Amino acid sequence: MALLIKSGTIITASETFTGDILVEGEKISSVGANLHVDGVEVIDAAGKLVLPGGIDPHVHLDLPMAGTVSSDDHYTGTKAAAFGGTTTVLDFVSQDTSPLTANVGAWRLKAEKAAIDYAAHMNITRLDQKVAGEIPDLVEEGITSLKVFTAYNGRLRLQDGEIFRVLRIARERGMITMLHAENGDVIDLLVAEALVSGHTTPEWHARTRPAWGAVEAVLRASALAAQAEAPLYIVHMNVAGEVDQLRYARERGVKVMGETCPQYLFFSIEHLRRSDGAKWLCSPPMRTPEDNDRLWKGLADGTIQTIGTDHCPFFFDGTKPITYEGTSIAIPGKELGKDDFSKVPNGLPGVGDRLPVMWTYGVRAGHITPNQFVALTSTNPAKIFGLYPRKGSLLPGADADIVIWDPERRLTYGIAYAKHRTDYNLYEGWELVGYPDKVFLRGNLIVDGDRWVGRSGMGRFIPCQPGAPAL
Ligand code: URP
Ligand code: ZN
Ligand code: ZN
Repeated sequence: MALLIKSGTIITASETFTGDILVEGEKISSVGANLHVDGVEVIDAAGKLVLPGGIDPHVHLDLPMAGTVSSDDHYTGTKAAAFGGTTTVLDFVSQDTSPLTANVGAWRLKAEKAAIDYAAHMNITRLDQKVAGEIPDLVEEGITSLKVFTAYNGRLRLQDGEIFRVLRIARERGMITMLHAENGDVIDLLVAEALVSGHTTPEWHARTRPAWGAVEAVLRASALAAQAEAPLYIVHMNVAGEVDQLRYARERGVKVMGETCPQYLFFSIEHLRRSDGAKWLCSPPMRTPEDNDRLWKGLADGTIQTIGTDHCPFFFDGTKPITYEGTSIAIPGKELGKDDFSKVPNGLPGVGDRLPVMWTYGVRAGHITPNQFVALTSTNPAKIFGLYPRKGSLLPGADADIVIWDPERRLTYGIAYAKHRTDYNLYEGWELVGYPDKVFLRGNLIVDGDRWVGRSGMGRFIPCQPGAPAL
């Protein structure tokens, strides 16, 4: 049956107005004032906000790392995302020695259990003539974004000349290159020195990954993008100087865009100094309160285009099971590095926290407007990665991925609400005002208040279109 969402305050990336949305099948069929349609299910959204479903451009589900695996798979992670108002995620396909299309095929099989829609980026962590020749095949597979790394020597890192080649291939095919910006050479040396000196605590994870490495890598890659005349997207920006370099390059016409994540807005190296500091250990690391401030300003003034999460959760203590959907489960996690920060699996939970936390501490706190919130968390990721207007919009013809948001709901957030499959939450005890009330995926109700009414396998692979605009 068709669905009419009536009298809500509709918030898009550019407008706020009171109106109705008619959903027929999986699509939005009209948006307007006082729509009257007989024989439809009506939801009264008066007093509520109506938003396009969130799009998280950066998650790592079921990712093998450091002798374990990220603890959310494509079902548990997407269910957690849905509870937080996110209806599409972009995951990463790892490259091995098989053809790239075979890597995509293997990832597609793992992702089939997703409960919300999903797309993917391809990691390019080894480049030779054969791989270079295979990259264009990805477009046919619906993958138009390539992540490269200036860190993780001997494992994921490409050299500058290789990054330049990737940028050029991407430009020719209407694809986009994404950059993990750190200096792998400096990190390797500092980590080895720290361990020899007996510095093994999580704080040393940040101290051996200097901010300057991120800053110079952003400028270096922006310069490569300028010379390749190609678009570039800097992932998980975490340092004030990165924002400065992004601005510098953008002001000179380089098509470079940036993403930050909530953890880099709220936390600092101080959190790594806590006795449970490994909970905050991810790469790149948390920096300083001054960096937090500059990132907020970069979001507000349009220097940074998106907010992702880099969701890559691990248990804090993977020797102690939790109960997940009635089953006891423990997955080795941060305890693997209890005597050596370099052995702690890098990453943290966040896909479900993103919208609720950013609403209270971003919008209500006055850092960004409600329209910027929608742009940064939904519309811009959709545009940059070739999913718009099917995703990230409330336009007629778009997928009916809709969040009815209760702006008055108050709760004390934490593991009791977040549905990630892990044993901790970074925002434990934070007071929230505003929370998803109902979440629809292509017209299907999947979250109803605190109730899960979605299911594994409901998610669909959404091919990214080449030739997406640089924002
Ligand atoms: O610590 C993190 N972020 N793990 C995920 C891998 C990455 O580089 O994004
Ligand atoms: Zn990264
Ligand atoms: Zn990542």
